[in-house]
Amino acid sequence: ALQREEIQLVASLVPVLKAHGSEITTRFYNMMFTAHPELLNIFNHSNQRDGLQQQALASSVYAAAAHIDNLDAIEPVVQHIAHKHCSLNVQPEHYPIVGKYLTLALKDVLGNAVTPEVERVWLKAYDVIADYFIRMEQDIYRSVAGSKGGWTGFRPFIIRRKVQECTDILSLTLEPEDGQPIMTHQPGQYITVKVQKDGYSHLRQYSLISAPGKSYYRIGVKLERDNTEKAGIVSSSLHYDFNEGDRIEISAPYGAFTLDPHASTDVLLLAGGVGITPLLGMARAIAEENPGRRVTLLHAVREKAYHAFGEEINELVAAHPSFSATTLYERCTDADRQAGITAGRITLDWLREHAGQHMDVYLCGPRPFMTAVLSMLQEINHPASQIHLEVFGPALSFPQP
Ligand code: HEM
Repeated sequence: ALQREEIQLVASLVPVLKAHGSEITTRFYNMMFTAHPELLNIFNHSNQRDGLQQQALASSVYAAAAHIDNLDAIEPVVQHIAHKHCSLNVQPEHYPIVGKYLTLALKDVLGNAVTPEVERVWLKAYDVIADYFIRMEQDIYRSVAGSKGGWTGFRPFIIRRKVQECTDILSLTLEPEDGQPIMTHQPGQYITVKVQKDGYSHLRQYSLISAPGKSYYRIGVKLERDNTEKAGIVSSSLHYDFNEGDRIEISAPYGAFTLDPHASTDVLLLAGGVGITPLLGMARAIAEENPGRRVTLLHAVREKAYHAFGEEINELVAAHPSFSATTLYERCTDADRQAGITAGRITLDWLREHAGQHMDVYLCGPRPFMTAVLSMLQEINHPASQIHLEVFGPALSFPQP
């Protein structure tokens, strides 16, 4: 553990780190990938390009540094990252490498401010943080490896069905190549897909939309585009290169954004765009395991062309009197209205009407949707402990409820 003066020294570093956050982490990645190009098989190249990962890693290291004497206070955040790390097969031996280059970058950018004493304490703090992550990740790996049908690393599956669900989202149904059992996931979890391209393996997470306990996993895949309209490496591969019958390698299910289908609280599922995928998985799990539970689902999309899984949701609602669903199109035609679609975006009034104080709210979608809905939930004083959220893409620069 750190001494009181050491904790103070780490705390005094936090504002400096924040001020130079992106600079330090950009430098960190450049140096680390030069020395360890093999790590480019783990890290997301698009995130590097966008600078998003830099922010995520930076802000979490500082969050951890700021809570160095009580890491349990940020346990839920660490859980989320630890699951992500496990889905990427991050191992304990990676931590000293990250620590070494983070420290070198720190010294590079901050210069003389990093005295030998500062460096010693920083390294000690990093070790405390790394140990906390490593322990949590080892627990997760152990539990997955000990589950029936569980595995660590990547396992070959066959694409049994590939269905275009709307303009930019498809679903893939995956069965294990070895025909052996597969681990039962928790609703809301994701798997990582590994795709080889340009000499590297590329890893991306996709949410499970199938109910737990099947002999297959079904995932939703949105065709991603970056801010230059360049298509995502993995999602475009899955959309254009992979077909039914092809072999694909995936991780076991991971993720801390989960719902217990057997609980009795009413559930409100709020989805923006492709954020519907984990929430549909949750609705399916409740439908199968606790069908009398009250579920209210809202799915907001831009317009008809971007509306996926609408028929499936209608069928779920038709078969379960305790389920109800609202679909919103930002651009809504008369024909859409006649088909039961509501025009516009989610409003405070809608939430007031549908989000009872007792309800567990799960929200998932793109950042603007999440920001808007979260602030509305705060405005109607929905208890923070009953708000659960997942941001697609690097998290943690995102506020926790
Ligand atoms: C993702 C923090 C160590 C590899 C992340 C994220 C955070 C984070 C906040 C974003 C989570 C998200 O996307 O939701 C940390 C901290 C570390 C640490 C605080 C040290 C204490 C490591 C190590 C590795 C690693 C040792 C392995 C070499 C990754 C990868 C991602 C990630 C590959 C996914 C995003 C991407 O590919 O850019 N980490 N991490 N991290 N981390 Fe770590």
